[in-house]
Amino acid sequence: MIRYVNATDSLTSLQLTGFFEGWPTPPSPERHLILLRKSDEIVLAVESASEKVVGFITAITDGVLCAYIPLLEVLPPFRRQGIGKELVRRMLRSLEGLYMVDLLCDPQLREFYASLGMNPATGMMIRNYRVQSGSKEQRARGKQQGNATRKTAHSGLQE
Ligand SMILES: CC(C)(COP(=O)(O)OP(=O)(O)OC[C@H]1O[C@@H](n2cnc3c(N)ncnc32)[C@H](O)[C@@H]1OP(=O)(O)O)[C@@H](O)C(=O)NCCC(=O)NCCS
Repeated sequence: MIRYVNATDSLTSLQLTGFFEGWPTPPSPERHLILLRKSDEIVLAVESASEKVVGFITAITDGVLCAYIPLLEVLPPFRRQGIGKELVRRMLRSLEGLYMVDLLCDPQLREFYASLGMNPATGMMIRNYRVQSGSKEQRARGKQQGNATRKTAHSGLQE
């Protein structure tokens, strides 16, 4: 049986294995737990027999007008059983009353989101693959490199 929860109070990183399928440098389960705790809204699908998280969705919101849904994933063995749609449905319900709820997706998932009442749009993005795991060390290095790049670009402008 799958149950859906909105809190991380009793959650441990041991319950969070197998996510970020296909990511070259995925966040560790420990970093995953932190990103769940820091998100404004989350919904987790938990398999009752194993107490493992088998799906999750996160949202970041200003609580006034806007929300963004950065992450949704269901573990491969649990896909095509309605869990992904249920996670989105529950998240959209949590975000009800906001003016805009946005996300980016691959073209093949347009139908998936359209069936949940969302409309297609055009998006833009940046991906810093060197900080993909979200580890503290990677982020610190990424910031230093970013600063160095900005300084170079800035001094280039002054010349
Ligand atoms: C996208 C994802 C969350 C869907 O989860 P799910 O639990 O399998 O979805 P559901 O069972 O609720 O919905 C299934 C329906 O969604 C559509 N769908 C789901 N995954 C799809 C995919 N990869 N491509 C096209 N359609 C898909 C189909 O219409 C499917 O219906 P069907 O099984 O009758 O064909 C899951 O495939 C996943 O985790 N993918 C990897 C991460 C990802 O792409 N996340 C989305 C980021 S925008």
